[in-house]
Amino acid sequence: MKEWTKEEKKRILDEKDLPELEKLHEQILKSRWRCDYHVQTVTGLMNDPNGFCWYNGKWHLFYQWFPFGPVHGMKHWYHVTSEDLVHWKNMGIAVMPDTWCENNGCYSGSAFIEDNILYYAYTGNSRDAQNQRSQYQLLGKMDERGFHSKYPEPVIFPSKDYTEHQRDPKLFRREEDGKYYILHGAQNKELQGVLLLYSSDTISEGWILCGELKVRGYDHFGSMAECPDLEKIGDKWLLLFSPQGLETDREEFENRCHNIYFIGDMDFENLEFIPDGQYEELDRGFDFYAAQCAFQKQYENTAVLEAWVGGVEYTYPPTDEEGWAGLQTLPRELTIEDGKLMQRPSRNVDALKGELLFEAKNGEILQNKTIGTTPDACVISVQNPDLESFTLNLFAEMNHKGFEISYSKMTGQFTIDRSDMTNQVNTDYGTKRTISLPQGMKSLLVFADHSIVEIFVNDGEYVLTARIFPTEQERQLRMNGKNVDMSIWQANKTVDDDFVITEAEE
Ligand code: FRU
Repeated sequence: MKEWTKEEKKRILDEKDLPELEKLHEQILKSRWRCDYHVQTVTGLMNDPNGFCWYNGKWHLFYQWFPFGPVHGMKHWYHVTSEDLVHWKNMGIAVMPDTWCENNGCYSGSAFIEDNILYYAYTGNSRDAQNQRSQYQLLGKMDERGFHSKYPEPVIFPSKDYTEHQRDPKLFRREEDGKYYILHGAQNKELQGVLLLYSSDTISEGWILCGELKVRGYDHFGSMAECPDLEKIGDKWLLLFSPQGLETDREEFENRCHNIYFIGDMDFENLEFIPDGQYEELDRGFDFYAAQCAFQKQYENTAVLEAWVGGVEYTYPPTDEEGWAGLQTLPRELTIEDGKLMQRPSRNVDALKGELLFEAKNGEILQNKTIGTTPDACVISVQNPDLESFTLNLFAEMNHKGFEISYSKMTGQFTIDRSDMTNQVNTDYGTKRTISLPQGMKSLLVFADHSIVEIFVNDGEYVLTARIFPTEQERQLRMNGKNVDMSIWQANKTVDDDFVITEAEE
């Protein structure tokens, strides 16, 4: 891949760059790995979801965006919208790194709606003439017409008691005391990851540091805690964040960086989160980071989550070489049931299903239009409350397993395996992921979309996300399982892949 110079990575989008970007976009449209129903970068690189919310009759999602190529350069915010969390429209550039306190990028942040205004709190990543970095928490807003404006001064200046890493504000308001809060990630002087809580009586000024939000039983998390989020679901709190360099001896933590959660109670007076149990990974696959829940009141006792299908310092050479990188997950609905986090695809997800291509009941094939080929974009449902063993090979080839999903009742293990695919990525962190299902595998919902597979096990008990890059030869579909009920639908194209850069009015 091309080497990017510092100057190239520092480019800020300008009117005159539009023809260049349009050419880039035309080129990446030819990719066999562009998706049909996942939000994907319009050009260049996408990472974290930002400013996710329900506002003015629509879902709004912004994402971290470097327009010019598949590298982490100067970050802008790009904007997409949806009415149902299934169909998505490209809206264009939303936030530009154009003030002194964001001269090295508009980093991640969250949305908050009040008086029919969409506020977004985000991090200005700034470097001075000596290349010394400072991170400021900034505030911007969007009105009903889609008009953006920024507050001229940071609402929070960096605290001297922490290092240069202070970012990713989650803005919320507590009904109980009427105060506004910002929770963000930070690194202490011992180079450990911590969470800082600020409060204010107004959104736009008066922010004071309350202190570190401690999680009872833990002193810190790795070397930096990124993208924290705190959500009330029913009468419980969900705390999630993405620590870098988490020290853990738990064997399931195989990824380079992790996105973890705790379920528990919040003690705002003592700045303490009291967890009910140990932390868990939000996703048990390979590629998942920086998840964020939407500001929304549409769905009761439910959080709506999006995440970046990627990871810190992961690279994806197949699409990097084509000039683009990055997808978002399907939106997930999160609930807490019997003390357990359940994650399901959003409630309108059936709108994805097109023609029924394959159907088997009790292991007997009733119809099969797949001709043994994995559809590039499809939804697969497997049901069997008492499954013995099961194997599904997607994008396989003669004598090659492709992407293998398997379960054995004898061992109680469920495995996804991408080790036998031609295009390999980030293999230093393993090529298989296994989870134990002591209660068995009762159901499986698989979403495959050109270069991503998302797997929901046992109605949302676990989710596993994987990027894959099947070649033209990797096309077969094979399955093996006694008495399974299985259906495969062609998936509809629900996400626009048009070239929209200048932000349209709402
Ligand atoms: C997480 C992250 C955030 C930061 C953003 C920059 O992936 O590193 O901490 O705000 O990405 O793009």
